[in-house]
Parts: sequence; C-alpha cells; structure tokens
Amino acid sequence: MKIFVDTANLDEIKELAEMGIIDGVTTNPSLMAKVGVVGEENVKEHYKKICEIVNGDVSAEVISTDYEGILKEARELAKIHKNIVVKVPMIPDGIKAIKTLSAEGIRTNCTLVFSANQALLAAKAGATYVSPFIGRLDDRAQEGVVLIEEIKQIFDNYCFSTQILAASIRSPLHMKQVAMIGSDVATAPYKVIKQMFEHPLTDLGLEKFLSDYKKAQSA
Ligand code: G3P
Repeated sequence: MKIFVDTANLDEIKELAEMGIIDGVTTNPSLMAKVGVVGEENVKEHYKKICEIVNGDVSAEVISTDYEGILKEARELAKIHKNIVVKVPMIPDGIKAIKTLSAEGIRTNCTLVFSANQALLAAKAGATYVSPFIGRLDDRAQEGVVLIEEIKQIFDNYCFSTQILAASIRSPLHMKQVAMIGSDVATAPYKVIKQMFEHPLTDLGLEKFLSDYKKAQSA
C-alpha cells in the first residue's frame, strides 16, 4: 500500500520524505489555509515546492464547482508539475469534468466520496484515484472501513484501474485496517504516520539491549 501524507506543511513533508516512507502528498483547501497559503499564485508556488520535495503524486484541489471552472483550474494546476493530480469534488459537474480531463490525459482524484455508488461513478468517468473519507463516516456512526471493502469489491469485479485512496484517516488502526483490505493508497496526517512507528515493547527492548551491552563492556 502506498502511503501519502495529508498535509500542506513543508517541514512535515520533508521529514517523512527523507525517511523514504511516503509515496505522495494530498492537500485540500482546509490544509492550505492551515499553513497560511493564500492567493492563486502563492498556492501554485506552494504546490511546486511540495512536488520538489516528494517523488510521487501530489493532489491539488480545485475550488470551482461548475464544469467549465473545474476544467480551467484543473488545466492550470496540471501545468505546475508532472506529478500533480487534480482533486475534483464528487458532484455531477465534477464527474463530467473528470471524464473530459481523463480524455486529455490529466490525472484526477475524485474527493469527498462517501458511498460505493459515488466511487463507481468516479471510476466510470476515468478518475485516477477515488478518495473515500473514512473518518468522517466514523464520526456519523457509520463504519468507514466498510466503505473501503465495498469499493474494493466493485473495482475488483469490473477490473477498474481507478485506485482507492483511503482518506480522512484518523488513527494507526485505520491504517492497518485499510492495508489489510487492500486499499491501493492511504493518506494520513503526519501525526498518524509518526504513530505507526510506536510500540512500547520496542522502546523497552532497545533500552534492555543497550544496558546489557554497556554492562558487558564494563564487566
Ligand atoms: O484527504 C481528506 C482529508 O484531509 C480529510 O480528513 O480529518 O478532515 O476528515 P479529515
């Protein structure tokens, strides 16, 4: 499973990229606002910086909601770098735009997917990725990981090449669950990726190995 980091923070991206554990980055307008990037040109510049740090796909989201507006923005975003994947919302105009962009060879990530039927429509339109938001479903007492299972079954049934990008990941448990289901990608916040390293027995074990080593040296 590929791991993307869901952030627009350059320091976070840099740290994880240097460890060699991330395969890409996802952003959204909320994450860009969080790091204080505003204005069309600054946003483009920021995406360029992200693409220079990480060797993998970088999702850049449109803010238009009409067909023509989405196309215009998507074509501009795609010009920034070859690794840019244009994130388009799961709405009728978005699906229509994904179809057109896919015919033009512009890769897309259909976002805000909350049902298997929405994922099916995105795949039929030729989306490169679909982003089911599992944490936000959990927030509404619906098990998000079940949606990943459903989409996986549908995509396998019909051999769709669209990749499942599990999003709105909130915990290391989510990461394990979507990896076991066979999600193609999971995008997680920096904090969750760092949590994946942790186990108290690793720390205790290392402490013991090092103290035994020291004892043996001084004996
Ligand atoms: O990639 C989508 C993701 O950023 C949404 O996460 O935690 O805002 O539901 P969250």
